[in-house]
Amino acid sequence: MAKLNVNGVVRAFEAEADTPLLWVIREQLALTGTKYGCGVAQCGACTVHIDGQPVRSCVYPASAVTPEQKIVTIEGLSSDGSHPIQKAWAALDVPQCGFCQSGMIMAAAALVRDKPQCTDADIDAAMTNICRCGTYNRVRKAIHVAVRGGDPAAAGLAIERIEGSKA
Ligand code: FES
Ligand code: FES
Repeated sequence: MAKLNVNGVVRAFEAEADTPLLWVIREQLALTGTKYGCGVAQCGACTVHIDGQPVRSCVYPASAVTPEQKIVTIEGLSSDGSHPIQKAWAALDVPQCGFCQSGMIMAAAALVRDKPQCTDADIDAAMTNICRCGTYNRVRKAIHVAVRGGDPAAAGLAIERIEGSKA
């Protein structure tokens, strides 16, 4: 039986050599926060970290990951939603239907760790995830908020709300 280190815990699994990591994570380890969108590495809904790097798990064979490598899924990004990206997402109400959002958050978390001074161009280059609900503007804004301390108002990035609407 093969093993994977997921969110700090070594877990055993059985799969064919070409089984994508996504299906091991979702179906054998029951970590369903990581989503299946396209299955062909285009949408980013399945993004997890392997040794800190964002990886599209729908096309990444589980057999290619060693037990020494550290996989982090959305469930392991923080124990209580306190990662700066998660806090900024909540502060700006980024999700709409939410389906793409765990992948978005994982990609954004890797970006802000690697580029804490990230520019719009850095965000556009790194955030190639697809959102059918069109949350792109808020994703970009939330990343800027996260790297500026997490308070939208202090960062000059608060969203004006019209009474009775979400926007
Ligand atoms: S499901 Fe993996 S990139 Fe779309
Ligand atoms: S929030 Fe619905 S697909 Fe992105």
